[in-house]
Amino acid sequence: MDLDVINKLNEILLHFKLVLNFNNFNLSIHSCSIIALSFIFIIYILISITSSKKVASISVNEEKFNKNSYIPKPIYDFQWDKVVPVKSYPFKNAPYKLTMGIKNLNLQEWLLIEPTYLNRIENKTKIINNSHADYPKDKDMRNSTLFVTPEVIPSIIEFYDIVMNYMYNKYPTCFNKDEHYYYNLITSKKYKIDETDPNKLQEYLVENIEEDFIILMKDETKVNEPNGQEYFFKGGVFAFAAGFNPRDRFNKPLSFIHHPVPNYETKLKFSMNKFFDRLKPGEFVTRSNFSIQTHSKFYVDDANKGHNLPKDFVQKPLDYDDLNFEKNQHYRSERQVLTKLPKTKAIVFTIRTYLLPLSQVKNDGKEVCERLVGAIDGFPEEVAQYKRSQEWGPALKKYLLS
Ligand code: HEM
Repeated sequence: MDLDVINKLNEILLHFKLVLNFNNFNLSIHSCSIIALSFIFIIYILISITSSKKVASISVNEEKFNKNSYIPKPIYDFQWDKVVPVKSYPFKNAPYKLTMGIKNLNLQEWLLIEPTYLNRIENKTKIINNSHADYPKDKDMRNSTLFVTPEVIPSIIEFYDIVMNYMYNKYPTCFNKDEHYYYNLITSKKYKIDETDPNKLQEYLVENIEEDFIILMKDETKVNEPNGQEYFFKGGVFAFAAGFNPRDRFNKPLSFIHHPVPNYETKLKFSMNKFFDRLKPGEFVTRSNFSIQTHSKFYVDDANKGHNLPKDFVQKPLDYDDLNFEKNQHYRSERQVLTKLPKTKAIVFTIRTYLLPLSQVKNDGKEVCERLVGAIDGFPEEVAQYKRSQEWGPALKKYLLS
C-alpha cells in the first residue's frame, strides 16, 4: 500500500475518532462506526487498486512501443513492378483552406514500394552523389540534400534499424536478411546490419526506400532563441526538394522552415507545435500536398515557388501553345508521414514524391480534371502567388477541360 493511501486512512480514522468522542462513545455507535469504517476501507482499496492499474497501463503503453511495434504484416505475393501506385490527388473542388490536413495512418501503409522504385532510388542516389545529369557538375548537391548533426546520430541508427526491418518484414519478395546483412533483392545489393556511420546509413536508406526523410529534435541549446522551443530539422535526406534549398532550412525550427508559407504564423504555427509536442511513438499521421511544375526535375531550389522570383516580378500566364503536357508540365504531390521514434524520441517526417506528366492526370478522367480546376480556382491571391498558378494556371485549366 502506498504512503498516500496510509495517510488517507489515518485521516479517516482520526475523523471518526473525533466524531465518536464528540458523541460520547457508546457500543451501538461503536459497531456502526466499525461497519462504516470497513466499508470505506474496502471502497478505498478498490479505488486505489483501479487507479494503480491505470498508472501501470499508461506506463506499459509507453513501454510497449519499441522497434517491434514497427513490424508490418508480410505481403507474400508482392510484385514490386506490378502493384498499382497510390493516387495522390489531395485537391478539392473548393476554396483553399490552410489547415494541418492530417489523418491517422496504419503502420502497414507507411513506406511503400511501387513501380517507380528503381527510378526514384537511382535519381536520388545520383543527386546525393553529385552525379545527376540534370544539374551542373560543379553544383554541390550533396551539401544541399544530406544532413547530419552529432546529436541526431543515435536517431539515424534507430531509424535505419526500424526501416530495414520494416521493409524486410513487409516485402519478403524484395528483401532478405541474415546475421550480418540485409539483402535488397530488387537491386541485388547488401547492407551491413550493424553499420553505425551516419553518412553511410543515410546513403543505405536512399538506396532502399523511395521516401526522403527528415529527423527533427528539440534543441536544449537554443531554447532562448526565437522559436527555440520548437522541433528542429537535425538530419536526414531531403533530395527531392520542391522549390527551396534544404541547406537553408537545416538546423532550424519548424517556424523558420515554414516562413514562406502564406499565413503560416497566424493559421498553422500554434496547432502544428501542439501536434508535434503530443505525437507519441507508434503513432502515424499523414498529410499530402500538391503543386504543378513546368519541368521534370526532382530536386528544385530555384523554381516552383513564388518566393524564388524577383521581388516585384509580375507573374504572367504561360502561352498554351508553348506547353507540352506529356513531357514538361508535371503534377507533383508529396505524401508525408510523421511518427516518433520509440527509443531516441526524435520525430521522423518521411516524404514520398509523386511526379506525373499532366497528361497522365488528364487520363484519370473528367472528375479528377474538374476537381483540379476547381482547386486552382479556389486559390486566394497569396497562395496563387506562392504556387505560381498565375503562370501555369490558365493554360492548365484549358488543357484539363478540353
Ligand atoms: C503536420 C506537419 C506539417 C504541416 C501541417 C505542414 C504544412 C505545410 C504547408 C501547408 C506547406 C505549404 C505547401 C503545402 O501545402 O505543403 C508546407 C511547406 C513546407 N513544409 Fe511543411 N508541414 C508540416 C511538417 C513539415 C516538416 C516536419 C518539415 C520538415 C522540414 C516541413 C517542411 C516544409 C518545407 C521545407 C516547406 C516548403 C516551404 C517553402 O515554400 O519554402 N514541413 N508545410
